[in-house]
Amino acid sequence: MTPRKKKGETPSTDRTRDLEIALEEEKSLSRARNTLLESNIKELNDVYVALNDKLKVLRNRDERIKSFEAQLVRANKLSSLGELAGSIAHEIKNPLIAIQGFAKRIAKTRDLEKVRGYAELIDKEAGRLANVLVKLLDFSRMDEPRREEFDLNDIVEDTVLFMEHHLTRFKGVNVEVLRNSEPVMVSIDRIHIQQALVNLINNAAQAMPKGGTIRISAGTEDGFGFISVTDEGGGIDEEIMERIFEPFFTTKPKGEGTGLGLSLSRKLLETNKGSL
Ligand SMILES: Nc1ncnc2c1ncn2[C@@H]1O[C@H](COP(=O)(O)OP(=O)(O)OP(=O)(O)O)[C@@H](O)[C@H]1O
Ligand SMILES: [Mg+2]
Repeated sequence: MTPRKKKGETPSTDRTRDLEIALEEEKSLSRARNTLLESNIKELNDVYVALNDKLKVLRNRDERIKSFEAQLVRANKLSSLGELAGSIAHEIKNPLIAIQGFAKRIAKTRDLEKVRGYAELIDKEAGRLANVLVKLLDFSRMDEPRREEFDLNDIVEDTVLFMEHHLTRFKGVNVEVLRNSEPVMVSIDRIHIQQALVNLINNAAQAMPKGGTIRISAGTEDGFGFISVTDEGGGIDEEIMERIFEPFFTTKPKGEGTGLGLSLSRKLLETNKGSL
């Protein structure tokens, strides 16, 4: 706005007035700016407080979800422990009843030949019990993996070397290790992986009563290390495929398999952040 010039005003008072007006305008502009800034700051502050409140609610919810998850994991473990306890009781009860029966028969007979026969049967049933208990001990020991960097190629070779003598009892069964040209480095508990591998090699050998070759190799896929074990047996029937990881599921004759090998191996790999 240009101020109207009054009569008799000199150019110099004119300029002073103009300046005064400009200063006044500037001041009022600055006041307006300040008010705007203050209201902006207040608004921002309100937003900050509201966001902080939201964050608190979210953090709270996050903590509740986490503790709920922990409860679920625990409940899950307990329920599978319950299931396992049921199967264990069943698995131990049968040989115990048999042992009791044979002991009673021994007490009643004077025939030494029969006594020997019963004693043999008792020995066999006790062996079955011991087998189950040894594998159960493996279950209970596996909690804390001691992870270190290893080349899976070495683990395969060492395990096969360790099993060489044991495998001679399977007639016509050969083992071929196909060593990968590249190292397959993984962070694992060596004992855990060897234990699982022993179970898989045993299954492979047992699956070939007429003999054949077990092929074992290590490699990398999508950044993950793996071990592959193949055999030339009859394979696994579709109907039982879903059940093979159940503790105590076995198709082997009574006293030959505990049915714990695969469930134990899977657990071993899972505690090492792997899978079977
Ligand atoms: N390589 C294989 N070929 C064919 N069937 C297999 C093979 N590996 C496992 N299975 C099937 O899966 C079942 C479960 O295997 P798992 O190793 O858990 O127990 P098991 O071998 O029967 O007994 P254990 O391992 O305690 O001696 C076996 O009884 C068998 O029927
Ligand atoms: Mg087995």
